[in-house]
Amino acid sequence: MSFGLLYSNIRTATFLFDKKYDPPQAESFASKTLYMGCDDMSFIKSEKLKFEYIRRDENGNVDSINKAIDEVDLDIEKGQFIAILGSNGSGKSTLAKHINALLTPADGTMWINGNDTKDAEKLKNIRQSVGMVFQNPDNQIIGSIVEEDVGFGPENIGVPTKEIWNRVDDALEKVDMNDFRLKSPNKLSGGQKQRVAIAGVLAMKPQCIVLDEPTAMLDPQGRRDVIDTITKLNKTDNITIILVTHYMEEVVNADRVIVLNKGKIVMQDTPRGIFSQIEKLESFNLDVPEVTKVANMLSKSGLEISDGILTVEELADEIMAAKKVRIC
Ligand SMILES: Nc1ncnc2c1ncn2[C@@H]1O[C@H](COP(=O)(O)OP(=O)(O)OP(=O)(O)O)[C@@H](O)[C@H]1O
Ligand SMILES: [Mg+2]
Repeated sequence: MSFGLLYSNIRTATFLFDKKYDPPQAESFASKTLYMGCDDMSFIKSEKLKFEYIRRDENGNVDSINKAIDEVDLDIEKGQFIAILGSNGSGKSTLAKHINALLTPADGTMWINGNDTKDAEKLKNIRQSVGMVFQNPDNQIIGSIVEEDVGFGPENIGVPTKEIWNRVDDALEKVDMNDFRLKSPNKLSGGQKQRVAIAGVLAMKPQCIVLDEPTAMLDPQGRRDVIDTITKLNKTDNITIILVTHYMEEVVNADRVIVLNKGKIVMQDTPRGIFSQIEKLESFNLDVPEVTKVANMLSKSGLEISDGILTVEELADEIMAAKKVRIC
């Protein structure tokens, strides 16, 4: 494989990134960053974080101000799996982009690995510590062969060729895409492409991966494979995962769920704690997993079933226990 073939793409992506940016190209570049860590417990921290999108008319006068993030305090430790929920326009993507300093606060502070995202000198460290995966896999894949794509990031930062190969092997193994390494990404399913995108991020040795609706464009099997992959990376490799999603089923394995509404954190709890509050979730236009809904219906019809049921197995156990109570 010749990584030299990728140089023109690298230049294009870097240029667009500096110019702030054609989003798909910037996403592609931002997804390929690496990690240089520190040992603080708090990996992502924000205080009174605010961000506004300011629209100006042709004379430069402010036309409208859209407050997208409003006084958000975050404290996320290394190795945690955090899910972010919220209805459309609640600020999830804006918050996600602050984690890799694609956006910087209008007010308040965001620290990544102890680095203030407003400090230009820390930008490289921050971008190197957090990899990003976006919704559309086609916007994140640059190489014409899977293994080339995965090697793009390390090549871009001057990793020696032998080490690039090691990283490519390791990353493809971790996302279970080794068998496809010589294929064209165009020939892959959406789920497979997303796993290649994740491998591209992994090849940069990140300590945190932020995934903004990575399964939104995938079929159910592709969704399961991507979620299984990131769950494994979290549990086995201790990679901090920040998952933004609209699919409630995808957050049941998270350590913590954060619910955003109109740019504010309105709920923050374990998945069970969050899904025990069906009415509150509904007030933010959010749903609960199907199995939780069924459990809730059974409970309302008189069966003794606990709140916040998250899996079919849990529901089956509860039904069996409820039967026993009735028999006694
Ligand atoms: N480039 C932009 N210019 C102006 N306003 C924007 C821009 N991007 C987002 N917004 C606005 O900021 C708010 C938060 O948007 P954001 O994309 O962060 O929400 P989201 O929770 O990711 O939504 P979705 O679920 O639709 O992806 C919304 O009101 C949105 O319209
Ligand atoms: Mg979004």
